Amino acid sequence: MLTDSYSVNSKGHLCLGGADTVDLANQFGTPLYVFDEKDIRNNCKAFKEAFDEYYDGNALVLYASKAFSCKEMYRLVNSEGLGTDVVSGGELYTALAAGFPAEKIYFHGNNKTPNEIAYALDSKIGRIVVDNLFELETIDCLAKDKGIKAKVLFRIKPGIDAHTHDFIKTGQIDCKFGFALENTEAYEAVKKVTTLENVELAGIHCHIGSQIFETEPFVLAAEVMLNFADKIRKDFGITLGEINLGGGYGIKYVNSDKPVSKNESIKLLCSAVKKACAEYDYPLPKLLIEPGRSIVGASTLTLYKIGCVKTIKDVRTYVAVDGGMADNPRYALYGAEYDAIVANKADKDKDFEATIAGKCCESGDLIGENIKIQIPEVNDTLAVLATGAYNYSMSSNYNRIPRPAAVMVNDGKARLIINRETYEDIIKNDI
Ligand code: LLP
Repeated sequence: MLTDSYSVNSKGHLCLGGADTVDLANQFGTPLYVFDEKDIRNNCKAFKEAFDEYYDGNALVLYASKAFSCKEMYRLVNSEGLGTDVVSGGELYTALAAGFPAEKIYFHGNNKTPNEIAYALDSKIGRIVVDNLFELETIDCLAKDKGIKAKVLFRIKPGIDAHTHDFIKTGQIDCKFGFALENTEAYEAVKKVTTLENVELAGIHCHIGSQIFETEPFVLAAEVMLNFADKIRKDFGITLGEINLGGGYGIKYVNSDKPVSKNESIKLLCSAVKKACAEYDYPLPKLLIEPGRSIVGASTLTLYKIGCVKTIKDVRTYVAVDGGMADNPRYALYGAEYDAIVANKADKDKDFEATIAGKCCESGDLIGENIKIQIPEVNDTLAVLATGAYNYSMSSNYNRIPRPAAVMVNDGKARLIINRETYEDIIKNDI
Protein backbone atom coordinates (compact mmCIF):
# COMPACT_ATOMS: atom_id res chain seq x y z
CA MET A 1 0.00 0.00 0.00
CA LEU A 2 1.14 3.54 -0.73
CA THR A 3 0.85 4.86 2.83
CA ASP A 4 -0.07 3.50 6.27
CA SER A 5 -3.54 5.03 5.99
CA TYR A 6 -4.63 2.30 3.58
CA SER A 7 -5.46 -1.13 4.94
CA VAL A 8 -7.61 -4.17 4.20
CA ASN A 9 -10.20 -5.38 6.72
CA SER A 10 -11.47 -8.87 7.52
CA LYS A 11 -14.12 -8.58 4.78
CA GLY A 12 -11.36 -8.06 2.25
CA HIS A 13 -12.46 -4.44 1.79
CA LEU A 14 -10.09 -1.54 1.31
CA CYS A 15 -10.06 0.88 4.26
CA LEU A 16 -8.76 4.43 4.50
CA GLY A 17 -8.12 5.91 7.92
CA GLY A 18 -9.90 2.89 9.39
CA ALA A 19 -13.11 3.44 7.36
CA ASP A 20 -14.42 0.66 5.09
CA THR A 21 -14.48 2.26 1.63
CA VAL A 22 -17.21 -0.07 0.36
CA ASP A 23 -19.45 1.15 3.19
CA LEU A 24 -18.50 4.76 2.37
CA ALA A 25 -19.49 4.24 -1.27
CA ASN A 26 -22.84 2.80 -0.16
CA GLN A 27 -23.47 5.52 2.40
CA PHE A 28 -22.41 8.60 0.42
CA GLY A 29 -22.68 7.41 -3.18
CA THR A 30 -20.06 7.55 -5.92
CA PRO A 31 -17.92 9.12 -7.18
CA LEU A 32 -16.68 10.13 -3.77
CA TYR A 33 -13.47 11.84 -2.68
CA VAL A 34 -12.21 10.49 0.64
CA PHE A 35 -9.55 12.17 2.83
CA ASP A 36 -7.82 10.85 5.94
CA GLU A 37 -7.85 13.66 8.51
CA LYS A 38 -5.11 12.15 10.67
CA ASP A 39 -2.72 11.99 7.76
CA ILE A 40 -3.39 15.61 6.79
CA ARG A 41 -2.79 16.69 10.39
CA ASN A 42 0.37 14.58 10.60
CA ASN A 43 1.69 16.17 7.42
CA CYS A 44 1.13 19.66 8.84
CA LYS A 45 2.86 18.64 12.07
CA ALA A 46 5.79 17.01 10.27
CA PHE A 47 6.66 20.22 8.42
CA LYS A 48 6.21 22.36 11.54
CA GLU A 49 8.26 20.05 13.74
CA ALA A 50 11.06 19.94 11.20
CA PHE A 51 11.27 23.75 11.27
CA ASP A 52 11.27 23.67 15.08
CA GLU A 53 14.15 21.22 14.95
CA TYR A 54 16.27 22.83 12.23
CA TYR A 55 15.30 26.50 12.27
CA ASP A 56 14.21 27.22 15.84
CA GLY A 57 10.66 27.57 14.58
CA ASN A 58 11.34 30.89 12.85
CA ALA A 59 9.19 29.71 9.99
CA LEU A 60 5.64 29.62 8.68
CA VAL A 61 4.23 26.73 6.70
CA LEU A 62 1.62 27.97 4.26
CA TYR A 63 -0.77 25.35 2.94
CA ALA A 64 -1.01 25.89 -0.84
CA SER A 65 -4.75 25.70 -0.99
CA LYS A 66 -4.97 25.34 -4.78
CA ALA A 67 -4.30 21.65 -4.09
CA PHE A 68 -7.66 21.29 -2.34
CA SER A 69 -9.70 24.28 -1.35
CA CYS A 70 -12.86 24.03 0.70
CA LYS A 71 -13.92 25.52 4.02
CA GLU A 72 -13.16 22.45 6.10
CA MET A 73 -9.64 22.23 4.70
CA TYR A 74 -8.92 25.83 5.72
CA ARG A 75 -10.35 25.15 9.20
CA LEU A 76 -8.20 22.07 9.51
CA VAL A 77 -4.88 23.62 8.52
CA ASN A 78 -5.67 26.69 10.62
CA SER A 79 -6.18 24.48 13.66
CA GLU A 80 -2.72 23.02 12.98
CA GLY A 81 -1.21 26.52 13.09
CA LEU A 82 -0.42 26.80 9.38
CA GLY A 83 -0.93 29.83 7.18
CA THR A 84 -2.30 29.47 3.68
CA ASP A 85 -1.55 30.58 0.18
CA VAL A 86 -4.42 31.55 -2.08
CA VAL A 87 -4.25 32.25 -5.76
CA SER A 88 -7.59 33.85 -6.61
CA GLY A 89 -10.37 35.92 -5.12
CA GLY A 90 -12.39 32.70 -4.91
CA GLU A 91 -9.81 30.92 -2.76
CA LEU A 92 -9.43 34.02 -0.62
CA TYR A 93 -13.19 34.24 -0.18
CA THR A 94 -13.37 30.57 0.84
CA ALA A 95 -10.52 30.95 3.34
CA LEU A 96 -12.10 34.03 4.93
CA ALA A 97 -15.53 32.38 4.97
CA ALA A 98 -13.95 29.54 6.93
CA GLY A 99 -12.63 32.04 9.48
CA PHE A 100 -9.00 31.79 8.39
CA PRO A 101 -6.90 34.53 10.04
CA ALA A 102 -6.34 37.12 7.31
CA GLU A 103 -2.81 37.96 8.46
CA LYS A 104 -1.72 34.39 7.71
CA ILE A 105 -2.94 34.50 4.11
CA TYR A 106 -0.48 35.03 1.23
CA PHE A 107 -1.95 35.96 -2.13
CA HIS A 108 -0.35 34.62 -5.32
CA GLY A 109 -1.18 34.79 -8.99
CA ASN A 110 0.30 36.07 -12.23
CA ASN A 111 -2.69 38.19 -13.22
CA LYS A 112 -4.54 39.37 -10.15
CA THR A 113 -7.30 41.75 -11.13
CA PRO A 114 -7.56 45.19 -9.51
CA ASN A 115 -10.74 43.94 -7.83
CA GLU A 116 -8.92 40.97 -6.35
CA ILE A 117 -6.10 43.20 -5.13
CA ALA A 118 -8.55 45.62 -3.56
CA TYR A 119 -10.34 42.70 -1.91
CA ALA A 120 -7.04 41.42 -0.51
CA LEU A 121 -6.07 44.84 0.82
CA ASP A 122 -9.51 45.45 2.34
CA SER A 123 -9.35 42.04 3.99
CA LYS A 124 -5.97 42.96 5.50
CA ILE A 125 -4.31 39.75 4.39
CA GLY A 126 -0.70 39.08 5.35
CA ARG A 127 1.17 39.49 2.08
CA ILE A 128 0.60 39.89 -1.62
CA VAL A 129 3.17 38.02 -3.68
CA VAL A 130 3.79 40.36 -6.59
CA ASP A 131 4.24 38.82 -10.01
CA ASN A 132 4.94 41.79 -12.31
CA LEU A 133 5.34 45.55 -12.55
CA PHE A 134 1.76 46.21 -13.66
CA GLU A 135 0.53 44.54 -10.51
CA LEU A 136 3.06 46.43 -8.40
CA GLU A 137 1.75 49.74 -9.70
CA THR A 138 -1.86 48.70 -9.15
CA ILE A 139 -1.07 47.73 -5.55
CA ASP A 140 0.68 51.03 -4.97
CA CYS A 141 -2.29 52.98 -6.37
CA LEU A 142 -4.91 51.04 -4.46
CA ALA A 143 -2.93 51.15 -1.22
CA LYS A 144 -2.58 54.92 -1.62
CA ASP A 145 -6.38 55.27 -2.06
CA LYS A 146 -6.93 53.23 1.06
CA GLY A 147 -4.26 55.07 3.04
CA ILE A 148 -2.24 51.93 3.80
CA LYS A 149 1.18 50.52 3.09
CA ALA A 150 0.92 47.11 1.42
CA LYS A 151 3.42 44.46 2.47
CA VAL A 152 4.55 42.39 -0.47
CA LEU A 153 6.95 39.68 -1.53
CA PHE A 154 8.35 39.51 -5.05
CA ARG A 155 8.00 36.28 -6.95
CA ILE A 156 11.42 35.44 -8.37
CA LYS A 157 12.30 32.92 -11.07
CA PRO A 158 15.59 31.61 -9.71
CA GLY A 159 16.51 29.87 -12.98
CA ILE A 160 16.42 26.38 -11.49
CA ASP A 161 15.30 23.48 -13.64
CA ALA A 162 13.27 21.08 -11.52
CA HIS A 163 12.91 17.67 -13.11
CA THR A 164 9.18 17.33 -13.33
CA HIS A 165 6.43 17.56 -15.94
CA ASP A 166 6.84 20.58 -18.26
CA PHE A 167 3.41 21.95 -17.35
CA ILE A 168 4.20 22.12 -13.64
CA LYS A 169 7.77 23.46 -13.61
CA THR A 170 7.95 27.14 -12.82
CA GLY A 171 11.48 28.12 -11.80
CA GLN A 172 13.00 28.65 -15.26
CA ILE A 173 13.14 31.94 -17.18
CA ASP A 174 10.64 30.83 -19.83
CA CYS A 175 7.65 30.70 -17.53
CA LYS A 176 4.70 33.03 -17.08
CA PHE A 177 5.25 33.57 -13.36
CA GLY A 178 7.35 36.20 -11.66
CA PHE A 179 10.49 38.21 -12.27
CA ALA A 180 13.55 36.53 -13.79
CA LEU A 181 16.95 36.97 -12.23
CA GLU A 182 19.03 36.29 -15.35
CA ASN A 183 17.79 39.29 -17.32
CA THR A 184 17.81 41.71 -14.34
CA GLU A 185 14.00 41.95 -14.31
CA ALA A 186 13.98 41.09 -10.62
CA TYR A 187 16.66 43.64 -9.84
CA GLU A 188 14.79 46.36 -11.74
CA ALA A 189 11.62 45.52 -9.84
CA VAL A 190 13.41 46.02 -6.52
CA LYS A 191 14.72 49.34 -7.79
CA LYS A 192 11.15 50.28 -8.70
CA VAL A 193 9.69 49.34 -5.31
CA THR A 194 12.13 51.65 -3.55
CA THR A 195 10.45 54.55 -5.38
CA LEU A 196 6.93 53.61 -4.26
CA GLU A 197 5.49 55.10 -1.11
CA ASN A 198 2.66 52.70 -0.49
CA VAL A 199 4.37 49.35 -0.89
CA GLU A 200 6.90 47.72 1.40
CA LEU A 201 9.08 44.86 0.17
CA ALA A 202 8.98 42.35 3.01
CA GLY A 203 10.66 39.47 1.25
CA ILE A 204 11.12 37.35 -1.83
CA HIS A 205 9.45 34.18 -3.00
CA CYS A 206 10.14 31.41 -5.45
CA HIS A 207 8.42 28.18 -6.43
CA ILE A 208 10.37 25.93 -8.75
CA GLY A 209 7.74 23.35 -9.62
CA SER A 210 5.57 20.57 -8.31
CA GLN A 211 5.85 16.82 -7.62
CA ILE A 212 9.64 17.05 -7.22
CA PHE A 213 11.54 14.13 -5.72
CA GLU A 214 15.07 15.50 -5.77
CA THR A 215 16.37 17.70 -2.99
CA GLU A 216 19.07 19.43 -5.00
CA PRO A 217 16.82 21.88 -6.89
CA PHE A 218 15.35 23.13 -3.58
CA VAL A 219 18.81 23.66 -2.11
CA LEU A 220 20.01 25.43 -5.25
CA ALA A 221 16.94 27.67 -5.21
CA ALA A 222 17.59 28.57 -1.55
CA GLU A 223 21.19 29.50 -2.40
CA VAL A 224 20.16 31.64 -5.36
CA MET A 225 17.49 33.41 -3.31
CA LEU A 226 19.87 34.22 -0.46
CA ASN A 227 22.43 35.47 -2.92
CA PHE A 228 19.82 37.83 -4.36
CA ALA A 229 18.71 38.94 -0.89
CA ASP A 230 22.31 39.84 -0.13
CA LYS A 231 22.55 41.83 -3.36
CA ILE A 232 19.36 43.71 -2.43
CA ARG A 233 20.85 44.55 0.95
CA LYS A 234 24.13 45.73 -0.56
CA ASP A 235 22.63 47.79 -3.38
CA PHE A 236 19.45 49.13 -1.80
CA GLY A 237 20.07 48.85 1.92
CA ILE A 238 16.98 46.67 2.41
CA THR A 239 17.37 43.63 4.66
CA LEU A 240 14.54 41.27 3.83
CA GLY A 241 12.79 39.64 6.74
CA GLU A 242 11.18 36.77 4.81
CA ILE A 243 12.25 34.19 2.29
CA ASN A 244 9.48 32.01 0.88
CA LEU A 245 10.75 28.95 -0.97
CA GLY A 246 7.42 27.67 -2.31
CA GLY A 247 6.08 24.14 -2.42
CA GLY A 248 6.64 21.22 -4.73
CA TYR A 249 7.44 18.28 -2.44
CA GLY A 250 6.49 15.08 -4.27
CA ILE A 251 4.21 12.33 -2.99
CA LYS A 252 3.79 8.67 -3.76
CA TYR A 253 1.19 7.97 -6.45
CA VAL A 254 2.61 4.61 -7.51
CA ASN A 255 5.08 2.29 -5.85
CA SER A 256 8.01 3.45 -7.96
CA ASP A 257 7.65 7.03 -6.63
CA LYS A 258 10.25 7.73 -3.95
CA PRO A 259 9.42 10.92 -2.06
CA VAL A 260 11.96 12.39 0.32
CA SER A 261 10.73 12.58 3.92
CA LYS A 262 9.47 15.97 5.08
CA ASN A 263 12.02 16.02 7.87
CA GLU A 264 14.87 15.39 5.45
CA SER A 265 13.63 18.00 2.93
CA ILE A 266 13.32 20.69 5.56
CA LYS A 267 16.62 19.77 7.17
CA LEU A 268 18.41 20.27 3.84
CA LEU A 269 16.54 23.48 3.11
CA CYS A 270 17.32 24.97 6.52
CA SER A 271 20.94 24.00 6.36
CA ALA A 272 21.27 25.59 2.89
CA VAL A 273 19.68 28.81 4.16
CA LYS A 274 21.79 28.90 7.32
CA LYS A 275 24.97 28.24 5.36
CA ALA A 276 24.24 31.02 2.87
CA CYS A 277 23.32 33.43 5.69
CA ALA A 278 26.57 32.66 7.46
CA GLU A 279 28.50 33.22 4.25
CA TYR A 280 26.87 36.62 3.64
CA ASP A 281 26.63 37.52 7.32
CA TYR A 282 22.91 37.93 6.71
CA PRO A 283 20.45 37.80 9.63
CA LEU A 284 18.43 34.58 9.46
CA PRO A 285 15.16 35.52 7.75
CA LYS A 286 11.80 34.04 8.60
CA LEU A 287 11.49 31.02 6.32
CA LEU A 288 8.28 30.07 4.58
CA ILE A 289 7.29 27.13 2.43
CA GLU A 290 4.06 26.37 0.58
CA PRO A 291 3.37 22.66 0.41
CA GLY A 292 0.06 21.68 -1.18
CA ARG A 293 0.16 18.15 -2.55
CA SER A 294 2.36 16.87 0.29
CA ILE A 295 -0.21 18.05 2.85
CA VAL A 296 -3.38 16.78 1.25
CA GLY A 297 -2.51 14.44 -1.60
CA ALA A 298 -1.28 11.14 -0.33
CA SER A 299 -3.69 9.38 2.01
CA THR A 300 -6.81 9.91 -0.01
CA LEU A 301 -8.79 8.20 -2.72
CA THR A 302 -11.71 8.50 -5.08
CA LEU A 303 -14.37 5.81 -5.06
CA TYR A 304 -16.25 4.94 -8.22
CA LYS A 305 -18.77 2.29 -9.26
CA ILE A 306 -17.77 0.15 -12.20
CA GLY A 307 -20.57 0.34 -14.78
CA CYS A 308 -19.16 -1.68 -17.65
CA VAL A 309 -16.19 -3.87 -18.48
CA LYS A 310 -15.47 -3.87 -22.21
CA THR A 311 -12.86 -6.32 -23.47
CA ILE A 312 -11.73 -5.67 -27.02
CA LYS A 313 -10.15 -8.91 -28.14
CA ASP A 314 -6.39 -8.63 -28.71
CA VAL A 315 -6.52 -4.95 -27.81
CA ARG A 316 -7.36 -4.15 -24.16
CA THR A 317 -10.06 -4.07 -21.52
CA TYR A 318 -11.77 -0.79 -20.71
CA VAL A 319 -13.19 -0.61 -17.20
CA ALA A 320 -15.66 2.27 -17.18
CA VAL A 321 -16.43 4.13 -13.96
CA ASP A 322 -19.11 6.64 -13.03
CA GLY A 323 -16.65 9.57 -12.99
CA GLY A 324 -13.54 10.35 -15.00
CA MET A 325 -11.78 13.42 -16.34
CA ALA A 326 -14.46 15.71 -14.89
CA ASP A 327 -13.38 14.76 -11.34
CA ASN A 328 -9.78 13.86 -12.17
CA PRO A 329 -8.29 15.49 -15.27
CA ARG A 330 -4.67 14.68 -14.33
CA TYR A 331 -4.13 11.69 -16.62
CA ALA A 332 -5.62 13.54 -19.57
CA LEU A 333 -3.52 16.62 -18.79
CA TYR A 334 -0.19 15.26 -17.62
CA GLY A 335 -0.31 11.50 -18.16
CA ALA A 336 -0.22 11.31 -14.36
CA GLU A 337 -0.01 7.76 -13.03
CA TYR A 338 -2.32 6.30 -10.39
CA ASP A 339 -2.70 3.08 -8.47
CA ALA A 340 -6.18 1.56 -8.30
CA ILE A 341 -7.80 -1.20 -6.25
CA VAL A 342 -11.15 -2.95 -6.56
CA ALA A 343 -12.20 -1.93 -3.05
CA ASN A 344 -14.52 -4.88 -2.40
CA LYS A 345 -11.81 -7.36 -3.50
CA ALA A 346 -8.81 -5.68 -1.91
CA ASP A 347 -7.53 -8.98 -0.48
CA LYS A 348 -7.34 -10.57 -3.94
CA ASP A 349 -4.35 -10.47 -6.27
CA LYS A 350 -4.08 -7.69 -8.77
CA ASP A 351 -3.56 -9.73 -11.86
CA PHE A 352 -5.86 -8.01 -14.31
CA GLU A 353 -4.62 -5.30 -16.66
CA ALA A 354 -7.18 -2.55 -17.13
CA THR A 355 -7.59 0.79 -18.78
CA ILE A 356 -9.77 2.85 -16.47
CA ALA A 357 -12.15 4.98 -18.51
CA GLY A 358 -14.53 7.69 -17.39
CA LYS A 359 -18.03 8.49 -18.58
CA CYS A 360 -17.29 11.69 -20.50
CA CYS A 361 -17.92 11.89 -24.20
CA GLU A 362 -14.24 11.88 -25.10
CA SER A 363 -11.75 9.08 -25.92
CA GLY A 364 -9.06 10.75 -23.83
CA ASP A 365 -11.24 10.49 -20.75
CA LEU A 366 -9.05 7.98 -18.96
CA ILE A 367 -7.80 7.74 -15.37
CA GLY A 368 -4.98 5.42 -16.35
CA GLU A 369 -3.86 2.79 -18.82
CA ASN A 370 -2.43 -0.67 -18.21
CA ILE A 371 -3.10 -0.51 -14.50
CA LYS A 372 -3.06 -3.78 -12.56
CA ILE A 373 -6.25 -4.29 -10.57
CA GLN A 374 -8.27 -7.20 -9.18
CA ILE A 375 -10.64 -8.86 -11.69
CA PRO A 376 -13.27 -6.15 -12.26
CA GLU A 377 -17.01 -6.77 -12.49
CA VAL A 378 -19.98 -4.50 -12.94
CA ASN A 379 -21.07 -2.91 -9.63
CA ASP A 380 -17.67 -3.36 -8.02
CA THR A 381 -16.31 -0.31 -6.21
CA LEU A 382 -13.08 0.96 -7.69
CA ALA A 383 -10.73 3.06 -5.57
CA VAL A 384 -8.21 5.29 -7.31
CA LEU A 385 -5.54 6.21 -4.77
CA ALA A 386 -3.81 9.46 -3.83
CA THR A 387 -6.35 11.72 -5.52
CA GLY A 388 -6.53 14.34 -2.76
CA ALA A 389 -4.49 17.04 -4.47
CA TYR A 390 -5.51 18.78 -7.69
CA ASN A 391 -8.51 16.54 -8.34
CA TYR A 392 -11.48 18.25 -6.72
CA SER A 393 -9.77 21.60 -7.24
CA MET A 394 -9.36 20.97 -10.98
CA SER A 395 -12.72 19.24 -11.46
CA SER A 396 -15.27 20.53 -13.93
CA ASN A 397 -18.86 20.05 -14.97
CA TYR A 398 -17.85 18.79 -18.40
CA ASN A 399 -20.82 17.05 -19.97
CA ARG A 400 -22.83 18.65 -17.15
CA ILE A 401 -21.71 16.00 -14.72
CA PRO A 402 -22.26 17.14 -11.12
CA ARG A 403 -19.11 17.28 -8.98
CA PRO A 404 -18.72 14.43 -6.46
CA ALA A 405 -19.12 14.78 -2.71
CA ALA A 406 -16.11 14.68 -0.38
CA VAL A 407 -15.80 13.08 3.05
CA MET A 408 -13.15 13.29 5.75
CA VAL A 409 -12.51 10.13 7.74
CA ASN A 410 -10.95 9.95 11.16
CA ASP A 411 -10.48 6.71 13.08
CA GLY A 412 -13.06 4.92 11.00
CA LYS A 413 -15.71 7.66 11.18
CA ALA A 414 -16.66 9.71 8.14
CA ARG A 415 -18.17 13.16 7.86
CA LEU A 416 -19.32 14.98 4.77
CA ILE A 417 -17.21 18.05 3.98
CA ILE A 418 -18.48 18.87 0.50
CA ASN A 419 -21.98 18.09 -0.71
CA ARG A 420 -22.50 16.28 -3.98
CA GLU A 421 -23.62 18.71 -6.67
CA THR A 422 -27.14 18.28 -7.96
CA TYR A 423 -28.67 18.82 -11.39
CA GLU A 424 -30.22 21.97 -9.88
CA ASP A 425 -26.71 23.22 -9.08
CA ILE A 426 -25.75 22.56 -12.68
CA ILE A 427 -28.40 24.91 -14.06
CA LYS A 428 -28.38 27.49 -11.28
CA ASN A 429 -26.55 30.13 -13.36
CA ASP A 430 -28.39 29.43 -16.59
CA ILE A 431 -30.79 32.16 -17.61
N1 LLP B 1 3.28 27.67 -4.26
C1 LLP B 1 3.05 28.10 -5.51
C2 LLP B 1 3.37 29.48 -5.84
C3 LLP B 1 2.54 27.23 -6.47
O1 LLP B 1 2.34 27.68 -7.71
C4 LLP B 1 2.23 25.90 -6.11
C5 LLP B 1 1.65 24.97 -7.08
C6 LLP B 1 2.46 25.49 -4.80
C7 LLP B 1 2.99 26.41 -3.89
C8 LLP B 1 2.14 24.12 -4.29
O2 LLP B 1 2.85 23.11 -4.95
P1 LLP B 1 2.77 21.60 -4.41
O3 LLP B 1 3.39 21.55 -3.05
O4 LLP B 1 1.35 21.22 -4.37
O5 LLP B 1 3.52 20.81 -5.43
N2 LLP B 1 -2.19 20.89 -11.16
C9 LLP B 1 -0.85 20.32 -11.10
C10 LLP B 1 -0.02 21.00 -10.07
C11 LLP B 1 0.10 22.48 -10.31
C12 LLP B 1 0.87 23.16 -9.22
C13 LLP B 1 0.66 24.61 -9.27
N3 LLP B 1 1.36 25.34 -8.28
C14 LLP B 1 -0.97 18.83 -10.81
O6 LLP B 1 -2.08 18.33 -10.72
O7 LLP B 1 0.03 18.14 -10.72
